[in-house]
Amino acid sequence: MKGLILAGGFGTRLRPLTYTGAKQLIPVANKPIIFYGIEALVKAGIKEIGIIVGETAKEVKNTVGKGEHWDINITYIPQEAPLGLAHAIKISKDFLRDEPFVMYLGDNILKEGIKDFVRRFQENKPNALILLTEVTNPQEFGVAVIDEKGSVKKLIEKPKEPPSNLALVGVYLFDTEIFRAIDHIKPSWRNELEITDAIQWLLDNDLKVESHKVKEWWKDTGKPDDIIEANLLVLEGIEPLNNGTHVDSTINGRVCTGEGTVIEKSVIRGPVIIGKNARIIHSYIGPFSSIGDNVLIENSEIECSVIMEGARIKNVEKRIDRSIIGKNVVINVSAHSPRTHRFILGDQSYVEIIK
Ligand code: TTP
Repeated sequence: MKGLILAGGFGTRLRPLTYTGAKQLIPVANKPIIFYGIEALVKAGIKEIGIIVGETAKEVKNTVGKGEHWDINITYIPQEAPLGLAHAIKISKDFLRDEPFVMYLGDNILKEGIKDFVRRFQENKPNALILLTEVTNPQEFGVAVIDEKGSVKKLIEKPKEPPSNLALVGVYLFDTEIFRAIDHIKPSWRNELEITDAIQWLLDNDLKVESHKVKEWWKDTGKPDDIIEANLLVLEGIEPLNNGTHVDSTINGRVCTGEGTVIEKSVIRGPVIIGKNARIIHSYIGPFSSIGDNVLIENSEIECSVIMEGARIKNVEKRIDRSIIGKNVVINVSAHSPRTHRFILGDQSYVEIIK
């Protein structure tokens, strides 16, 4: 079986972070999101993975490489524009050939992995297996109607009146019938070849579409709050590992620190991950925070946030909470009067000052 990971798209909902980088490379618990997908495929025994890339192809290739890190082969498949999930499959025909495959959206994280789904697909040999999860806001998802055996009867994209609360998760397993389906569908109103239309074609032509409900959490990291939430969920499962040094500091709970990291006169309350060569001085780092390599935090308090590599945060009086701070960002509160704010922010940056 092969794997197809989708890492194209524009990532407009994650601007400004996606002006300078691919959304699939944003770190969650200090690891690029796409690595979670690759590792899920590798754990399910998949060794040939194609990655769909768009405008950010170069960075994705630089970060992910050829697969040697996981002892697998990675092939990059350029998509000229984000013309839909089914379009991504269509252009991957030469790579996928006539093998069944798993399609995994490169911005999704699935706690339980995909091993069981792959096994079930291989045993039952349906034409497609889709993953579903119960949501409270089905209007925002592709929604499935299933019978008591889990066979899929109907799919509806973002229904105004949802017939069920079962949303499609961004992992799909297909055999070659999906190519026939894609050849029969037309682009939607948003000019995309929709995967839901292709699966509906399979259903309309009496092909077998099974479903599987995911038991553990699943996260689609499309928006800033999703990144913070995914970071929290992943950190909930970390094991402590201390490679840094502490001086006059208190470390509580599960905390990971990388080599060369120095924590001085600070309180770290896990779960927290801190990368390499970071310096935490006279500060508080609270639960569910990920601090990247080479970050400096001085006289400040951080909680439930993602601070990316090279950022420098100094003298911030109020706690920084539920925030995402990009690479090499500087936040410095100077002691000089008058007490003013000075901002140099890129397009679509977001600042919230809470009194
Ligand atoms: P989306 O989140 O639907 O799209 P997007 O990344 O363009 O984000 P936004 O809506 O904020 O602009 O895409 C899901 C995943 O699939 C994501 O990893 C990007 C990828 N993708 C492709 O590789 N090709 C495509 O044609 C589309 C639509 C998405």
